[in-house]
Amino acid sequence: MSVFNTNTRVAVIGAGAMGAGIAQVAAQAGHPVQLYDNRPGAAAQALQGIDRQLGQLVDKGKLDAAEREAISARLQPVESIEALADAQLVIEAIVENLQVKQDLLRQLEALCADDCILASNTSSLSITSLAAGLRRPQRVIGMHFFNPAPVMALVEVVSGLATDPQLAARLYQLAKAWGKQPVHTRSTPGFIVNRVARPFYAESLRLLQEGAADCATLDALLRDAGGFRMGPFELTDLIGHDVNYAVTCSVFDAFYGDFRFQPSLVQKELVDAGRLGRKSGQGFYDYREGAERPPAAELQSTARVDRCVVEGCLGVMQPLLQRLKASGISVTERPGNGLLRVGDATLALSDGRLASQRAREDGLSNLLLVDLALDYTSAARIAISKAADTTAQAQDQAIALLRQAGFSVSEVADLPGLVVLRTVATLANEAADAVLQGVGSAADIDLAMRAGVNYPCGPLAWAEHIGLGYTLRVLQNLQSSYGETRYRPSLLLRRVHAQGGHLHD
Ligand code: NAI
Repeated sequence: MSVFNTNTRVAVIGAGAMGAGIAQVAAQAGHPVQLYDNRPGAAAQALQGIDRQLGQLVDKGKLDAAEREAISARLQPVESIEALADAQLVIEAIVENLQVKQDLLRQLEALCADDCILASNTSSLSITSLAAGLRRPQRVIGMHFFNPAPVMALVEVVSGLATDPQLAARLYQLAKAWGKQPVHTRSTPGFIVNRVARPFYAESLRLLQEGAADCATLDALLRDAGGFRMGPFELTDLIGHDVNYAVTCSVFDAFYGDFRFQPSLVQKELVDAGRLGRKSGQGFYDYREGAERPPAAELQSTARVDRCVVEGCLGVMQPLLQRLKASGISVTERPGNGLLRVGDATLALSDGRLASQRAREDGLSNLLLVDLALDYTSAARIAISKAADTTAQAQDQAIALLRQAGFSVSEVADLPGLVVLRTVATLANEAADAVLQGVGSAADIDLAMRAGVNYPCGPLAWAEHIGLGYTLRVLQNLQSSYGETRYRPSLLLRRVHAQGGHLHD
């Protein structure tokens, strides 16, 4: 197999959103690119669209006019598949249907040279199945771009059972040369991103179903405390519930109904109602003319506090002290078990138990649990949950403390692990299982979640930051609260914690 260079002839099949984007990426990297679609005129139309987008880059001063011309000149629309006979790398981005893609690959195998690489941009089909039955399955590989391909950095390089490992290494280098951030993964359901991301949606859907808070509040917490770019409800409204629900169902089925991937009845109901999100005018939110997005719920306080006491270390929440001190609150530190006392109230970072359960088990009165924040020194919002016997006065004092430090405070019902903490713990758990099962390295999985879906931190690095022991405890407490295998901690978390090691070793 020859080494790629800018003379390598690339063919892209399918001139939809993804195919056009991939063709643009390859042409911008200097390759001659043919674009083919079986819909007459579609390839030429897509190239006009690319040229318009390049024109916008020229207008913004991000690309010079000569470069635009050169890129457009490298892009050639073709109207018959036979015109692709000389291609050295074919990337297909046609309809997501196994039979149709297999037929196309068989056609290409008969048409192209034996050393032509056949890559698929499939987001859910097995690369192993796509290659099955071909004469040379070792040259079939997944090259999974994210939408929009010219913007999103991640490319999952997906090896099927028969894929030549050297080919995976070469496509990885090629994606890098195209300015992308590639990761290696194996052909398993959802690859990395569409598997590891499932809990991001699933935990919030469950919280909504169980009455934790409304969509706007849960979205705001994941954005303002968790540092995610969008909350799960606004994001699935954007993706489309039909699409997001179908991915969840396909991953759930592919894992033989493992409860970890169980789809949500809440989302199914939206699909059944035709409330598919932005594209249909209604999803979790209303996008019709004149509709307004409801605000996140926020607690107010009538109290004013000027001191608090910190007993022991607050763990990952310790940086909160800086913020309290900076807002003029006097902080007294003394030994103890990681509690923050203000007036009658006791605050503690959630460990995955219910507030009422923890209050009883640990003998704490007026307990309020605090959620995880990506950065306690800068988070704009934080969630709290109170135990059943916490008085209104104690709650008022706790809210005052957090508000005086500059947080918006949102209450969530007493459910285990609050919002951000249980989301991060379950994301890390899924990521750990993916590492354990050889789906990708810890570094690649963290990179994939940052570059593919813009997570503010890789889930495994985040679990390390919280502490592996603490993350494990949260999962164990979630598991015992729900009595479900959904929260069973990954063996890898247990093993690395027992060894005192690091997930990224
Ligand atoms: P699309 O529906 O926008 O475009 C597909 C194009 O393929 C259409 O223009 C269609 O005419 C053409 N086509 C269908 N069958 C063909 C055939 N046999 N020969 C030649 N052309 C054919 O679809 P989109 O969204 O661009 O997706 C394409 C592929 O990329 C799918 O496999 C999808 O799973 C995958 N993907 C999609 C992402 C997305 O966010 N839309 C993200 C990552 C991957």
